[in-house]
Amino acid sequence: MPVGRTAPAPPAPGTVLPDTPTPGPAPGRGPLRREGPAKLTGTALYTDDLVFPGAWHGATIRSTEARARLLAIELDPAFDWSKVVVVTAGDIPGPNIVNSIQDDQPILATDEIRHHAEPIVLVAAPDRALLRQAVGQVIVRTEPLAPVLDPLASDRVFVHYEIETGDLAAGFAEATLVIEGEYRVGHQEQLYIENNAMIAVPRADGGVAVHGSLQCPYYVHNALKRSLLLTDEQAQVVQAETGGGFGGKEEYPSILALHAALLARACGRPVRMIYDRHEDIAATTKRHPAVVRYRSGVAADGRLVAQDIEIVMDAGAYCTLSPVVLSRGTLHAGGPYACPNVRIRSRAVATNTPPNGAFRGFGAPQTEFAAEMQVNRIAEALGESPLDLRRRWLYRPGDTTPTGQVLRESVAAEEVLERAAEAAEFERVRARTAGDRAQRGPDARSAHGIGLALAWHGAGFTGSGEVHLASVASVELTADGRLVILIGSTEMGQGTKTIFPQLVADALGVPMDDVEFAPQDTALVPDSGPTVASRTAMVVGGLVIEACRRLRAVVEERSGGPFADTYRADAGTHGATRIDQHFRPYPGVDFDDTTYRGDAYPAFGWASAVAEVDVDLDTGEVAVRSVVAADDVGRVIHPVLAEGQVEGGTLQAVGYATIEEIKLHDGRYLNDRLATYLIPTALDAPRISTILVEAPFSGAPHGAKGIGELPMDVGAPAVVAAIHDATGVWIHDLPASPERILAAMDTLVRR
Ligand code: MTE
Ligand code: MOS
Repeated sequence: MPVGRTAPAPPAPGTVLPDTPTPGPAPGRGPLRREGPAKLTGTALYTDDLVFPGAWHGATIRSTEARARLLAIELDPAFDWSKVVVVTAGDIPGPNIVNSIQDDQPILATDEIRHHAEPIVLVAAPDRALLRQAVGQVIVRTEPLAPVLDPLASDRVFVHYEIETGDLAAGFAEATLVIEGEYRVGHQEQLYIENNAMIAVPRADGGVAVHGSLQCPYYVHNALKRSLLLTDEQAQVVQAETGGGFGGKEEYPSILALHAALLARACGRPVRMIYDRHEDIAATTKRHPAVVRYRSGVAADGRLVAQDIEIVMDAGAYCTLSPVVLSRGTLHAGGPYACPNVRIRSRAVATNTPPNGAFRGFGAPQTEFAAEMQVNRIAEALGESPLDLRRRWLYRPGDTTPTGQVLRESVAAEEVLERAAEAAEFERVRARTAGDRAQRGPDARSAHGIGLALAWHGAGFTGSGEVHLASVASVELTADGRLVILIGSTEMGQGTKTIFPQLVADALGVPMDDVEFAPQDTALVPDSGPTVASRTAMVVGGLVIEACRRLRAVVEERSGGPFADTYRADAGTHGATRIDQHFRPYPGVDFDDTTYRGDAYPAFGWASAVAEVDVDLDTGEVAVRSVVAADDVGRVIHPVLAEGQVEGGTLQAVGYATIEEIKLHDGRYLNDRLATYLIPTALDAPRISTILVEAPFSGAPHGAKGIGELPMDVGAPAVVAAIHDATGVWIHDLPASPERILAAMDTLVRR
């Protein structure tokens, strides 16, 4: 099919677009995606599609230096400033802070500029031409300061952790093989289809409503209340249709909403701030780069007896969510393998680059890449199959993790490994590639390889996170007899709007079509927590099912008949019945945030991937041909959407492994455009075969553990292992770019 850039013709006036098709039961596939038809036919309203009459356009004037003292902001007196508004830090009514974990990030820079593209001045104008002119007449005077760009040289530590179990020295004393390794992973851009976008609309009560592309309405709500000094009602956040987030719309929308709201306040009109791709890539958060060092000890009988791990993550200029990203990275760094003596030390440090933040996997892909590299290198040193070594080491029920968590249930490491290895015929293909390698002459142009990876991914928030969030989800039988789900959890392509009506229909015994969704508007829905950590299906889904069970009991008690037959009449007699379900801690799950001991997650998801690649031995280019992915998600709610999650996560991992790279110069991203930041296209996508495994978690009423991030943990190490199988070289740094592969093969030849 030819791929062009021409947009489809808009429907002729008067054309009737198809109604949302009725999602019927489709055994083995799941109902049609609820918001799908609107997205496909172009009727879905993304932020830029929303019309607010009289709206102005906003722009951000940003730093062009990585670090500088801000001396003055000057407005050229020759320009007529009466037709536009200009906002600086002095115009912020409350604290000049983007509400997050630490209070370090300003909404607009004041005395010290800490990164390239840092916001300094905001301007809004009635039209784009005037806006451009005005922006050109703002002069920012600065004095350059020496930036810190190397995370290993940074002495500003935002957060650090240490996990220790067993006796490391005794473990290494027992070891007969010690393997050390240093692994580096770079930035990765989320590259959602829709850029960050926000429109702020002044409210009659002196507050502001923002409509935008976002994952977490209540994060934005808190940020607005705090810095604009607004009440719960005066700050209103409404999610527009959102074209993907992947973590990139977890924290950034707060600062963008604040900018739009400050401008709207200044001009008394709605203000639109819709980033173009260049601004989005240049200024918004990326995956944290990391340097991960391992020292692993193996006893004579082949047991893993010691792991000493050190992690340094580059947070960029401000803390953002780094403490939680680093925490997850730290907790997963041991990999899904039993080891009695482990020390994991980690820190997230400041550098003068744009702040890094959430990205699918949230720290785990970084450290699990390193963990898997280490396991593969040990297998090589032992002369053992990487599959057999994992079979011996992987977690089984009853094993204890480095935080002292006993894995009591829902442990499927073995099952996902065996299923993936079997479906991919791992050992058979590996024997063939080994034979090919042995026979390969000096004139060989390409090489085929196969690689394997195994990972675990903690479900829901880390530690006592869910307890602190105290989420609330509601279900209402309205006075006119409708069934409505009220949650702040958002749809961003992962399936919330489809699976929740499924869960409710199931719990109430009604058709899915009878279940509605309240808009993600903080004026209407409770705070069910952020749409992050793949927690929505497990945690919020669990709350909604509980709310349904209570609603059903109330109605059936009153009516004496089955809910499905009686709820409409019940509404007529009794009016609305709304059930607010509050989060209750999972029984038996206990974590100490200060000592980092205990149950780091209520349950873990498990994933294995087998990748096959072709490496061009002249150019070093890698073509990933196939990936077999086996993922344990507890319970599959919607097979097609679940497979979509595995395919999407796998493809993002393939990009991370092979081509996605941010080049920096003096703290500025050089390739901050779609033409230069490359991700896999449809043509680069491997054949992905998904195997869904179900090891249910008893703490969730439906057993689901979440699937959104899990596949992201295994793709990169599987691909890099396959590159090794093809070429004989280990690529320690991601991405395994052609340059790195050629350089490594060069040293191999010279040795
Ligand atoms: N899938 C799509 N299509 N779009 C997204 O933005 N985000 C991912 C994952 N899958 C994302 C996605 C991330 S980072 C997370 S944390 C989860 O979805 C969040 O959704 P969940 O809680 O419903 O799993
Ligand atoms: Mo996902 S990185 O937790 O938004």
